[in-house]
Amino acid sequence: MKLALETKGLAKTYLAGTPQEVQALKPTNLQFEVGKFYAVIGKSGSGKSTLLHLLGALDTPTAGEVWIGDENVYELNDRDRARLRRRRIGFVFQAYNLLMEHSVRENITLPVDLDGRDLDEEYFDKIVDSLDIRDQLHKYPMQLSGGEQQRVAIARALISRPNIVLADEPTGNLDTKNGEIVLDLLISTAKAFNQTVILVTHDLDIASRAERLIVIDNGFVSAEHQL
Ligand SMILES: Nc1ncnc2c1ncn2[C@@H]1O[C@H](COP(=O)(O)OP(=O)(O)OP(=O)(O)O)[C@@H](O)[C@H]1O
Ligand SMILES: [Mg+2]
Repeated sequence: MKLALETKGLAKTYLAGTPQEVQALKPTNLQFEVGKFYAVIGKSGSGKSTLLHLLGALDTPTAGEVWIGDENVYELNDRDRARLRRRRIGFVFQAYNLLMEHSVRENITLPVDLDGRDLDEEYFDKIVDSLDIRDQLHKYPMQLSGGEQQRVAIARALISRPNIVLADEPTGNLDTKNGEIVLDLLISTAKAFNQTVILVTHDLDIASRAERLIVIDNGFVSAEHQL
């Protein structure tokens, strides 16, 4: 069993030591295998986004560790952690977070451009075709439907060939049909490139598509089921 990501005693308390203190994530030990599709479910406020942000090196834990391969994420300095994030992790958010004044193509290649690397055109073509957005490349995000925008956001998340794709309610703004299309494309594309997907959702139908289920209740990772 090869691990993409692991947490050891990972915990987060917001506003520690104040009357507003929230223990958003209790000490958590999780292992994520390479190439598998995980769903994280739980009520609003249960700690799902907190967990996802910590896994993605976007936040700092109060306690514990996150390991990506053989790197202890929060031991790295800011620059190395940012580089690890750009190269190893792709994010997909509920609000697609595309740059409106840039073309679809520019939005997709942005992470590679920011890293000063050359675009792998062959891989770019595969991603674009697999997400069925070739006809959109020269348009601007405003000219796209929500489902198309989210597929562009997924392409952007995948363009750096990340090992890990983190998605926080990626179909939350889409109707059921488009949500399914986007989810199918995300899953099949990630499988094709052996990427580990960790997807936060309220939706039990979506969660049932995952290979592993992680349930969070009030900051406790209360169950991990094999589906
Ligand atoms: N920056 C913050 N400062 C203080 N408290 C926070 C902060 N972010 C989140 N919280 C609190 O931490 C808890 C977990 O929040 P989190 O965003 O992880 O929940 P969630 O499961 O993603 O919820 P939702 O399904 O509504 O997105 C909540 O009680 C929330 O109010
Ligand atoms: Mg959330």
